[in-house]
Amino acid sequence: MEGNLSLLTVPDKLNIAIFASGNGSNFRAIHEAISGGKIRNAQIALVISNNSDAGALEIARGFKIPAVHISRTQYKSDDEFNATLIGALAKHHINFIALAGYMKKIDVSVVGAFRNRIVNIHPALLPKFGGEGMYGMKVHEAVIAAKEKLSGATVHIVDDQYDHGMIVLQKTVAVEPTDTAETLAARVLNIEHEIYPEAIHLFAEGNIKIIDQKLIINNV
Ligand code: GRF
Repeated sequence: MEGNLSLLTVPDKLNIAIFASGNGSNFRAIHEAISGGKIRNAQIALVISNNSDAGALEIARGFKIPAVHISRTQYKSDDEFNATLIGALAKHHINFIALAGYMKKIDVSVVGAFRNRIVNIHPALLPKFGGEGMYGMKVHEAVIAAKEKLSGATVHIVDDQYDHGMIVLQKTVAVEPTDTAETLAARVLNIEHEIYPEAIHLFAEGNIKIIDQKLIINNV
């Protein structure tokens, strides 16, 4: 029987919304890869943050990219909040979402509207050290406590569970015996800045296929 093929070629360009809560260094890395010509067929058209003080919003304004603060606390209900998010995405003709240090769970209504078109970066080798409550330094502390020899970063598709969707790219770093959570985090962040733009490049070139819930990268 023929598989359920979903080819993620985007007809024109990836029109990306970045969701970020913090510093925005991954957002900056993706922006640099686009403006430096390493990713063609893509632009960042919107940055959304739940945190009005997010560095990511400031960076976006510096780049003249539309930047909006949309937080659940501004709305009476989850439905109103999620409808506002979806409205902002529609207004900017967004067809792809990259979560870059976004600290909130994406509602099923948004996941459903952008099925297989939302990616996230996680600072560990999923499926290890992921899931609810596993964020920031907690991830690196857990890796060190477990005496792992390797850690790394993972770009994955976002589904309706934390850190759970299909893996797009991973890269490892060695965990040194002298590492603290902070030194390990810094080393992992450097490779995040490599693999996140690489993953987006693959989507922009139409080189990611999903067949029967398996992600396949075209030979390029
Ligand atoms: C990164 O470590 C990322 O893996 C995690 O949040 C952090 C965001 O960093 N999801 P930045 O805001 O991109 O600098």
